[in-house]
Amino acid sequence: MNGRRPGTAGGSARQIWSLGGGKGGIGKSVLAAALGYELARMGKRVILIDADLGGANLHTCLGMGAPEKTLGDFILRRVERIEDVLVETGFRGLRLISGASDFLGAANIKHLQKVRVLSRIRSLDVDVVILDLGAGTAFNIIDFFLISDVGLLTLVPEPTSIESGYRFLKAALYRRLRAVAPTEAIRQIVDAAGDRKNSLGIRTPLDLLNTVAMEDQRALEPLRREMAAFHPRFVLNQVRDEEDGVIGHQLVTACARHLGIAAAYAGSVRFDDTVWKSLRQRRLFAVDAPTSQAAEDVRRLARALSGGENLAIEWA
Ligand SMILES: Nc1ncnc2c1ncn2[C@@H]1O[C@H](COP(=O)(O)OP(=O)(O)OP(=O)(O)O)[C@@H](O)[C@H]1O
Ligand SMILES: [Mg+2]
Repeated sequence: MNGRRPGTAGGSARQIWSLGGGKGGIGKSVLAAALGYELARMGKRVILIDADLGGANLHTCLGMGAPEKTLGDFILRRVERIEDVLVETGFRGLRLISGASDFLGAANIKHLQKVRVLSRIRSLDVDVVILDLGAGTAFNIIDFFLISDVGLLTLVPEPTSIESGYRFLKAALYRRLRAVAPTEAIRQIVDAAGDRKNSLGIRTPLDLLNTVAMEDQRALEPLRREMAAFHPRFVLNQVRDEEDGVIGHQLVTACARHLGIAAAYAGSVRFDDTVWKSLRQRRLFAVDAPTSQAAEDVRRLARALSGGENLAIEWA
């Protein structure tokens, strides 16, 4: 998630967005569906992927029945190509790779299967791929978040969600740092840091850097570089109070102070009865009520996130 990926020859940058958040039931799936729909309406070619391998339901958010072919069929090699599990949503420009309803869950996807899926997702020929992630901080969920160019950390303005979101980001950061650890000794320090009660006394990523510096000064640079390239963006959902918006900015400050990373606040979506009312009828609120507050907010978010020619500019 580094925003450095160059644009494709067609001019529009091919990007992977993901919606994570650590906690369940906060709106990752409905926002993924609505963002995909709005981007498609803006003329982009979009593929939504239900990467919630344990609890796939993105198709329901789009008003569809469970598709016959799913990501599970690709993971288990029942089909050859990831394109073979693509289905039309009925909305122009928007296609879906449905989650694996018959699959046992994220915990069961093996490393090589994951590498294959991630590389095939990257090669899909569209403008934007949106990954809807499951709840929790399992490596398989975090790895999907980390391949994204735009990692959207979804939160609702409640302490439990904020705690989960923070844990999610910390786990994601350590996972990134582990991947660039140049030696086994440094990898072990990063692994130890992941345990809150570790005996090395590492409580924050900044403590981790200090410990690494004492062990091997040369190992510091790749880790620092990795931290500097990590730019998650917060999306605050189910906002009921104007003042809740402040939370987004506070989180950015807290990330810089406690995690040493430059996060950004992407925007908020108001709590809106049309969202759950539409879902109850197996319909997408953005389609049903395009002038509703939540639909307006998602549209604004979609424009802001895809705005400009290149999302990397913000971080250049
Ligand atoms: N802005 C909103 N206003 C009102 N209701 C909302 C809003 N966003 C989400 N909801 C409701 O919250 C519920 C949970 O949404 P959703 O299934 O998208 O969460 P999730 O984060 O994907 O959960 P899980 O981790 O279990 O997959 C749904 O009933 C949805 O209608
Ligand atoms: Mg979901």
